[in-house]
Amino acid sequence: MADGLPTASRIVDAYRARTPASAKRYSEALTLLPSGVVHDGRRTLPYGIYVDRALGSRKWDIDGNEYVDYYGGHGALLLGHHNAAIVEAIKIQVEKGMHFAAATELEVEWARLVHELIPSAERVRFTSSGTEATHLAMRLARAATGKGKILRFQTHFHGWHDHVAFGVSSHLDGTPTSGVLADVASNVILMRPNDTDGVDRMLSTRKDVAAVILEPIGSSSGAVPTSPAVLRALREITRRNGVLLIFDEVVTAFRVAPGGVQALHDVIPDLTTMAKVLAGGMPGGAVGGRKDILDWLDYEACAATGHERISHQGTHNGNVVCAAAGITALKIIRDTDACKRASATAAQLRAGMNAVLEEEGVPWAVYGEHSFFHFFTNQENHALRPTQFDANRAPTDWFKTEKRERMMEKLRIAMLVNGVDLKGWRGGVVSAVHTPADVQFTLDAWRTSLQALKAEGDIARVRHNITAAGS
Ligand SMILES: Cc1ncc(COP(=O)(O)O)c(C=O)c1O
Repeated sequence: MADGLPTASRIVDAYRARTPASAKRYSEALTLLPSGVVHDGRRTLPYGIYVDRALGSRKWDIDGNEYVDYYGGHGALLLGHHNAAIVEAIKIQVEKGMHFAAATELEVEWARLVHELIPSAERVRFTSSGTEATHLAMRLARAATGKGKILRFQTHFHGWHDHVAFGVSSHLDGTPTSGVLADVASNVILMRPNDTDGVDRMLSTRKDVAAVILEPIGSSSGAVPTSPAVLRALREITRRNGVLLIFDEVVTAFRVAPGGVQALHDVIPDLTTMAKVLAGGMPGGAVGGRKDILDWLDYEACAATGHERISHQGTHNGNVVCAAAGITALKIIRDTDACKRASATAAQLRAGMNAVLEEEGVPWAVYGEHSFFHFFTNQENHALRPTQFDANRAPTDWFKTEKRERMMEKLRIAMLVNGVDLKGWRGGVVSAVHTPADVQFTLDAWRTSLQALKAEGDIARVRHNITAAGS
């Protein structure tokens, strides 16, 4: 049990047998990197695969094992690995130079594309990451409204800076996590996801709220779903109360549709945060939004209004290599059906995985929208039928109770043994280059993995709880 997984597991044994080189690298990493990782989400028990190269929908580890990849660069790779046009654009730019510490034509072209595609983006400021984008958006909101509080929703993820580092998977009561100042946390109001009545009551009584921020398809890319009706309600409530609405489209912009959730549902926020697909697989983020709000970064506008300007630096803001990759990606996304293809493949995958669950008598469900899939592992044993499960009709509380349990770690390992890399531990993200053959391969791996978990007693109390009720 030293590594957190049972030692007597055929699944774990098979994993260790396939990945000796990764195991070796991991022991070395443990001497240098906390927990041997560089991102919490990549922590895998007993250890993660070390990847050497990738192409299209596949990647290969340093032991030579091939995987269908549903981690997709944490969602950045809508166009898959090693898209030829993006790689070519990067190569051309690297040959010319990586950083000029000067303005470039590419940053203007990149901003123009963002402006063209994202309805709310009258003006754009580039950052180096999604975390930086949400941080800047909150500062802009505070400056522009002259108010201090930010209203967030429990479980919604906006990166790791101080204002958002609690209330995601723990500290749902709004208390600060280690290292975060209580004063900072006390300026954030955390509410239950989708509680529009609560927001309405809150904003009509409190007059110190600068902005409401949310992931517009629901937390963790829709794991706790949010409907367009909630977005429309929040838009109306915030506008009526003079509060800004921020859509965190770090994952969804240029993925669910070229114009993000806001274009898809025609709900236009005041500010939008972006990253991931924005930079075509390279690092990069941005805040887009109303000109009068982004004007708080503008020398001339602030001089004219007498506002103290928000200063904003960042060595790699609008980095020219990232801009080259981002421009190429956004043009492909604008001019092709890439978003629709990824969503259609994900829908096939979700349906196929649910059919397998039903055949195997496992009362879980695979759900999600657009190019995402999430696992509902039904820890409270609700009666449900996988192929009929409608996450939008299930009570929000059903999802809140989903915890990180050991069985899910094992499922992840079982899928790796069967050649599939999931996103972290509870689902995945599909690209426009996943093929029908990838889907079939994944469904076979899914069935084999579920059978292996059943054989080890990890999935219990099956069959009797599969019903048409509660679907
Ligand atoms: C919705 C959302 N916002 C913000 C972030 C933070 O972005 P980054 O990892 O680029 O800092 C993420 C990252 O996964 C995200 O999913």
